[in-house]
Amino acid sequence: MTRQLHRIVVADPAVLAAAAADRLMARIEANNNRMAICLTGGSSPKRLYQLLASEAYAKRIPWDRVHWFIGDERFVPPSDARNNMATARGIFLDRLAPKDNIHPVPTDAATPDESAGRYERELKSFYGADDLDPARPLFDLVLMGVGPDGHTASLFPGYPALAETKRWVTGVPQAHVAPFVPRVTLTLPSLASCREMLFEVAGEEKRAILDKLSKDESLPANRARSIGETVLLVDKAAAGE
Ligand code: 6PG
Repeated sequence: MTRQLHRIVVADPAVLAAAAADRLMARIEANNNRMAICLTGGSSPKRLYQLLASEAYAKRIPWDRVHWFIGDERFVPPSDARNNMATARGIFLDRLAPKDNIHPVPTDAATPDESAGRYERELKSFYGADDLDPARPLFDLVLMGVGPDGHTASLFPGYPALAETKRWVTGVPQAHVAPFVPRVTLTLPSLASCREMLFEVAGEEKRAILDKLSKDESLPANRARSIGETVLLVDKAAAGE
């Protein structure tokens, strides 16, 4: 990964989750108003979610004024174990966040595109405008992961969703990697509208894709960048150190 990326190498996944939690707390503490955090799916953020559920962090979070969104969703009901928001809800949100502050992608729509349209309307209503203003980012923090093919959120290499410049959210009829269910994803412009974009990448199995990202600028994870700060938190195993 290149271009305005701040890379931080940490010892292992436990340190990585703590570093992510501290960055999230710093973003919360830097904003005294209503604010939005965009969560992510996959396995990478689970330790972070567990930390946020722990008393040490939970008591420091002003739950009433923090709103939680998700950057991409698998087009399955919330009762399905593959549903990304359901994972976050199960680990910390349902117990700690007011219901009105939890903003899942509505996967009860007829199609992924209809679901995307509804989520886009929800984001615009939260933001209070139909156009993103670089002076007023939509999110304080956007969490991201990196998939084995260099995808991030559900923006897969070579897919039309990657080229989207107008829509904030779009349907992805077919996934490029498992789980092979349709997806709903925020697009590059809406993900970029944040004070900080934070990638969490850990484990030896991520080494190959990190190598590839250092050589291929066109991969989705290299094209997702914040209009503010973009940080890659990586552990030693993934970094090859
Ligand atoms: C999803 C994700 C996806 C994920 C990466 C990394 O719905 O699958 O949001 O973009 O972040 O695939 O996944 P892991 O954390 O499981 O490696």
